[in-house]
Amino acid sequence: MRYLNVDTATKISKIGLGTWQFGSGEWGYGKSYAGQEAKAIVRRALELGVTLFDTAEVYGLGRSERILGEAISGRRDQVFLATKLFPLAPLPPVVEQRAVASANRLGVSRLDLYQVHQPNPLVRDSIIMRGMRALQRIGLVGEVGVSNYSLDRWKAAEKALGGRVLSNQVRYNLVAPRPADGLIRYAEQAGRVVIAYSPLAQGFLSGRYDRTLRPSNRVRAYSALFLPGNLDLAGELFRVLREVAQAHDATPAQTALAWAIRSPAVAAIPGASSVAQLESNVAAAEIDLTDDEWQALRDASARFQPVTGPAALPSVLRARLGR
Ligand SMILES: NC(=O)c1ccc[n+]([C@@H]2O[C@H](COP(=O)([O-])OP(=O)(O)OC[C@H]3O[C@@H](n4cnc5c(N)ncnc54)[C@H](OP(=O)(O)O)[C@@H]3O)[C@@H](O)[C@H]2O)c1
Repeated sequence: MRYLNVDTATKISKIGLGTWQFGSGEWGYGKSYAGQEAKAIVRRALELGVTLFDTAEVYGLGRSERILGEAISGRRDQVFLATKLFPLAPLPPVVEQRAVASANRLGVSRLDLYQVHQPNPLVRDSIIMRGMRALQRIGLVGEVGVSNYSLDRWKAAEKALGGRVLSNQVRYNLVAPRPADGLIRYAEQAGRVVIAYSPLAQGFLSGRYDRTLRPSNRVRAYSALFLPGNLDLAGELFRVLREVAQAHDATPAQTALAWAIRSPAVAAIPGASSVAQLESNVAAAEIDLTDDEWQALRDASARFQPVTGPAALPSVLRARLGR
């Protein structure tokens, strides 16, 4: 495993583990996954040197935090534990109560990273960060983070906190490569961290799905990205991904992860539906892409223009109705 070069109480692994899948209806992996496989994934991740574990109070309405908390018990000191506040009415006392509730579900006395899940369009960060500052002062929160923030709002949040907002967790993958333009540059210069979520574009970049084999769980069955037309359009991106993967004796998923974590300021938090996937994802930390390979993938990514947003709505509705 490789680790980020930032001064944190516990070092942060370049490949972490995302746990939205744990106990979540949207992913629909079922009871035996939530009851057994999820814990086995966490235990194996710890054995392999993963320290960064990401959850949120909203994942499975608290179930993800509970499952993760049970799985890390006895190994707390090996973990850089990250959870998120859903910023509904995030006035300081609410922020403080919700952090305590998350810590209780996780069974810990400290959250290593407490992230604002998304920017609140109505409540300013000067208010949210007052709660965060109080949590840091009493030691319940180590580092403060944000998620889905623009660069300007990230910097404004730091100003409001009066200290570093260590990380910004954003979608960053070969289908959504945009953060490379500003957030990563800032993180590299300022000693901050970009946490790449959905680094496999929810499994899309494994290259194992096509119009004849589409994922059936809710989070992807109704996602525009997984529409048959978009899976067809991705043929060239998948071809380049496979070509680069072959040169490293790797899989397309591993290559997509290696692409995402190439900057020293980026860590990725892929989710996993099995221990085997987790093992494969962890191994991606060791792959060094050349400049040419990274750029070839970035170019293939730029040429892939999936139909999303309002234009995809009729097809998404047809998929929903099973037609
Ligand atoms: N801050 C936010 O707003 C936000 C939003 C979304 C996610 N997140 C976080 O980011 C984490 C990861 O994102 P994500 O879950 O959306 O997507 P992801 O990590 O891109 O994709 C995870 C899915 O990809 C497939 N997969 C994983 N490893 C694989 C491998 N080695 N080979 C082939 N397929 C593989 C699995 O699905 P199948 O096996 O079923 O195909 C798995 O459930 C989440 O768990 C969550 O912690 C945060």
